[in-house]
Amino acid sequence: MVFSSKLKKVIITGGNSRFGKILKKKFNGKNIIYTSKKDLNILNLDSIDNSFNKHKPDYLIHLASLSRPMEIHEENINLSIDINIIGTANIVKKCAERNIKLIYFSTAYVYPGTRGNYYENDSVKPINNYAWSKLGGETSVMLYKNSLILRLAMTEYPFIHKKAFSDAKANFIYANEVAKILPKILNEKGIMNIGSLETESIYSFAKKSNSKVKPTSIKNVKYFPKDSSINVEKLNNIINRKEKLKKNFFAAGPSISKIERETVEDMMFNGWDNYNYVEKFELEFAKYHKRKYCLMTPNCTLAIYLTLKSINLKSGDEVIVPDSTWTATVSPIVECGATPIFVDVNKSNWCININQIKKKINKKTKAIICVDLFGNIGEVNELKKICKKNSVLFLEDAAEALGSKLRGVKAGKFGDVSFHSFHRTKTITSGEGGVLLTDNKIIFDKAKHLRDLGRSNRNSYFAETSSLKFMPSNLQAAMVYGQFKRIDELLRIKREIFKSYKKYLKSINVKFNYDNKKIENGLWATVINFDLKYKINIIKLIKFLKNKNIYARLFFSPLSSQNAYKKYVKNKKINPISHELYENSLVLPSHYNLNDLDIKFISNNIIKFVKSSKT
Ligand SMILES: Cc1ncc(COP(=O)(O)O)c(C=O)c1O
Repeated sequence: MVFSSKLKKVIITGGNSRFGKILKKKFNGKNIIYTSKKDLNILNLDSIDNSFNKHKPDYLIHLASLSRPMEIHEENINLSIDINIIGTANIVKKCAERNIKLIYFSTAYVYPGTRGNYYENDSVKPINNYAWSKLGGETSVMLYKNSLILRLAMTEYPFIHKKAFSDAKANFIYANEVAKILPKILNEKGIMNIGSLETESIYSFAKKSNSKVKPTSIKNVKYFPKDSSINVEKLNNIINRKEKLKKNFFAAGPSISKIERETVEDMMFNGWDNYNYVEKFELEFAKYHKRKYCLMTPNCTLAIYLTLKSINLKSGDEVIVPDSTWTATVSPIVECGATPIFVDVNKSNWCININQIKKKINKKTKAIICVDLFGNIGEVNELKKICKKNSVLFLEDAAEALGSKLRGVKAGKFGDVSFHSFHRTKTITSGEGGVLLTDNKIIFDKAKHLRDLGRSNRNSYFAETSSLKFMPSNLQAAMVYGQFKRIDELLRIKREIFKSYKKYLKSINVKFNYDNKKIENGLWATVINFDLKYKINIIKLIKFLKNKNIYARLFFSPLSSQNAYKKYVKNKKINPISHELYENSLVLPSHYNLNDLDIKFISNNIIKFVKSSKT
């Protein structure tokens, strides 16, 4: 096996190191030179010069370093500084003089090792002197741009220690695997994590290659990171590992950064005797939507319920709703004892159909709920007028439309009362969470009163009205407050996901979420609606994708055909557009961790399925 093109010469420092020996076994030839301290002493600039003069390398792989036992770096810092920091700096200086490409072997232990899945641009904070000495080396390598720093979670096969930590996680990769990868990344630059695709406890990893290994705890040692696992997407994208198929392409999931960690941490130390974050979030969220009032609730379903309670919705009342929506739009109506009236949606924008509303509106109608389904916005201004004319409340369920805009006006601004959700799948999330937004002081005051057990304003230990409790926790609010600070960044990522799908699904005839000059969609989740000519079997397609770890979802099935709501309709299959959308649409994975290549992979599989089914 050749290591690099025969015309290029590679020199390796630390040729007798553990990894050096593994490379030697695998790669030999005139263009690869293994050096020991005798031939190339990294603490002696002349020795480095002599070796370079002799071999004239194009690449230098810097393995010479002091590693085990790790304690040596605590006990003898002179040695650690000399070999790992000064020695590396010498190599950098000499490579820079001759423009030799430098590949530096660092360690995954430069990351803090507390939460795992560290990306290359995450902050570093070594937890022991070994990692500090490697980071010291990195610092000089970083000054020289013709270089590649590898942060490795590398170990030998079989696992060599007698004991392994059962309470520490990592994604170790065996040295011989790294040897296979190395030739493929020689021309990369910057920093790259090198680890396996599977993060697991070190004990369970060790057991696979050494059945005699015993479990132990990190509590028994001085310095060891709890979760030093590293994210290896960058490496995967370059080497296109076969194991890539093992990555799960989830429907949704949050993007968490330092900002959320800081707000939640602040809440945990300072936020137990107040609702500071709830109040701050409500103010800022209202401002963002140009609304007078915002009230946070434990989830969006309860925000809808609280609103209906505030207008005293009761048995005998009716509320008109679209048939295509999530059950949470409608269950609060039923909980109040009122009747939901299901009408069809438009084929173009998946939102409630105005002509159908006109046929159903009557004296019993107390409210109409429009749903900004998958970020689409319907004919909200016309709806507003109809509601005003008929003196019914116009409610906007914008749970799926954070960041959507109609001619610059944000979803959440249109209803007399509007709702947003911060469910774990949504654009910003606190696991669960929701709000109502309104400019109506009477409804807001009533909802606020009912939210906290109907307690008296004057004496908070006196119950004025009997009510349940709908208070969100300050912890929830701290999380969503942190997320909301990143709203522009998060909306941009959702749009990039959408754009990649549009690019890669060009060859098939599908309609995407409504997104055009008039309506800028927040794109919480990308959805495709297949042309009827494909006669697509969505259930089969979902199964096909699942076999490839692609988790796509069904479109909302019409509520009027579900057990919970059947009793409110005479016919099983009213509202044909809602049925057609359900049968021919697919909600695509829209997790923040999807990159362009992932989306290409997902799209190609969809196309493959479509082409293989009969049209
Ligand atoms: C259209 C719609 N309405 C209401 C909700 C309810 O939101 P939550 O889960 O926060 O109660 C959702 C959430 O998934 C939704 O998609």
